[in-house]
Amino acid sequence: VIIDSSHIGTTIHFDELPPDQAQQLLFMNSEARFIFYKNISNKINHPTKIICLTSIDGGMGYNGADSNVSDPSLGALIGFYKALRKEWVDSDVKIIDFSLKVILEEFDTVMQNVIAEIVHSGMGVEIAYPNGMRMILKIDEKEIRADQKLTFSNNDTFLITGGGTGIAAQISLALAQKYPANFIIVDLLPLPENIGALALLDEAGLEKIRQDIHERLKAEHKKVTPVMINREFDAITKAIEIHRNIETVKNFGRKIEYIACDVRDFENLKSSLNEARKNVGQVTAIVHAAGIDKSHFLDQKSVEEFHNVFSVKAQGAYNLMHLCQDDPLKLAGAFSSISGRFGNAAQLDYSAANSFLNYWVKMLHHRRKNIHAISLIWSGWKDVGIAWRNEFVRQKSEEMGLNFIEVNEGIAAFMQEIENKNSDQEVILHKGLNGFVEPGLSITGLHDYPLIDRVIKEENKIIRANRMFSVNRDALIDQHRLGKTPILPAVAYSELAVEYYALQAGKKDHYALRDLTFANAFKLFHEQPRELFI
Ligand SMILES: NC(=O)c1ccc[n+]([C@@H]2O[C@H](COP(=O)([O-])OP(=O)(O)OC[C@H]3O[C@@H](n4cnc5c(N)ncnc54)[C@H](OP(=O)(O)O)[C@@H]3O)[C@@H](O)[C@H]2O)c1
Repeated sequence: VIIDSSHIGTTIHFDELPPDQAQQLLFMNSEARFIFYKNISNKINHPTKIICLTSIDGGMGYNGADSNVSDPSLGALIGFYKALRKEWVDSDVKIIDFSLKVILEEFDTVMQNVIAEIVHSGMGVEIAYPNGMRMILKIDEKEIRADQKLTFSNNDTFLITGGGTGIAAQISLALAQKYPANFIIVDLLPLPENIGALALLDEAGLEKIRQDIHERLKAEHKKVTPVMINREFDAITKAIEIHRNIETVKNFGRKIEYIACDVRDFENLKSSLNEARKNVGQVTAIVHAAGIDKSHFLDQKSVEEFHNVFSVKAQGAYNLMHLCQDDPLKLAGAFSSISGRFGNAAQLDYSAANSFLNYWVKMLHHRRKNIHAISLIWSGWKDVGIAWRNEFVRQKSEEMGLNFIEVNEGIAAFMQEIENKNSDQEVILHKGLNGFVEPGLSITGLHDYPLIDRVIKEENKIIRANRMFSVNRDALIDQHRLGKTPILPAVAYSELAVEYYALQAGKKDHYALRDLTFANAFKLFHEQPRELFI
């Protein structure tokens, strides 16, 4: 049994820490744990139990207005353990949160609860004991609500990290199209001086650039590999993409500043932001989307890799918070991932980083009461970004029922979330999570409903159920074709209707469907997955 409790017992205000202490704290609650587990992993068998104690607020930071989350590094720890749990599946990993007051005043009771968690194996991963009752964290579907509507004008400036390419670039373009706001984009890649000319090149022109790179590398090195050529060539095509995005924003009539800088580099970011503000004004909205992922299991992951993946999000968030502390912020959005919410094998660093962001947002909520702080927990996007570039994820997600979010759907969801200010601090944006959420960890358990991926609720009532059908996932549709085109058989509609009914009214032995008519066949054209709703 491992009980990790070295970090509890004091209240830390992360936002008040000077940079060196903040870095030290981040190290202790992320990398240090990684080093520890990496070291023991080949020396001992996986422990039967691993218990991580936290003292956030006695409710895992979900006590609503009473939560006073002040140390998001505990979020990193939670994300780390949730990922370890998915990697060491033979260890029973739990995270238990007690308020500091309870730890100090009712220590014996706390220990009894901890011992009970060691001895028994109850359901739940994130656990709290408010008023002595054992509570576990579950997700639920919730309709969007607005306590206040936010809109953006030319007095607003969005600061978007990681917004040069990927999903944040798509969102920047959509924001620029919709709002007459100003933009500061922070991304890693410096744009070459001749970027204007490069952006005009056609395919033949680009091919010539690739050959030039090849020739130069041959003159410089004994052996030239495709990886070496691609590295340089990809930087050029990425720079062109960033340049084109910037031009599109300008064509919408918006002001935009591009900062080529590592979001972790405090001094560089500080001076670049000061310079940018002269043109586009003070920052009123932060979207922290910079991120990297390198999926490796614990034994193949290096400390350096862990550090890099974790720090882009965590150190980046710290820098943004400090560098914008005097800006009139009305929005702070973080791009988090389902890996941080549920943990994921081979992503100890990425899960820790994203879970850190979830708690960073909670902290902002309490420290800067007038801003709309929200953590957008994305599942995979289609056609663009980290998840789509990952061959393994692309192939596996369909089978797992983790359906990709279309670009236009992601943009629409983003707009909805930033425009509707409410007390929600964490939203999961997805199209089916069954492969990720274990039975019992969702209020609307869908594991017994294989024809339903997700539901939408209104006032706690299910009003819609969605299911993505694909030939890879559903033999039912693969084996049922009209000519060559897969077509959903009538029995599938009927089953879907039954599952929907059973979900709302409880399971029955028999069902009768009356007055069924089939207006249109549901076909998968070009073998592409297609979503159906009821
Ligand atoms: N796409 C998805 O399906 C998905 C799902 C869940 C969460 N997310 C999150 O959403 C965010 C955007 O993801 P994406 O898919 O659009 O990724 P992406 O295509 O890789 O774009 C991320 C951008 O951030 C930049 N970046 C990386 N490290 C940076 C640093 N230290 N400072 C400044 N910029 C940095 C990257 O530059 P380089 O290319 O040079 O590294 C890249 O341009 C990430 O935080 C990701 O974790 C995405």
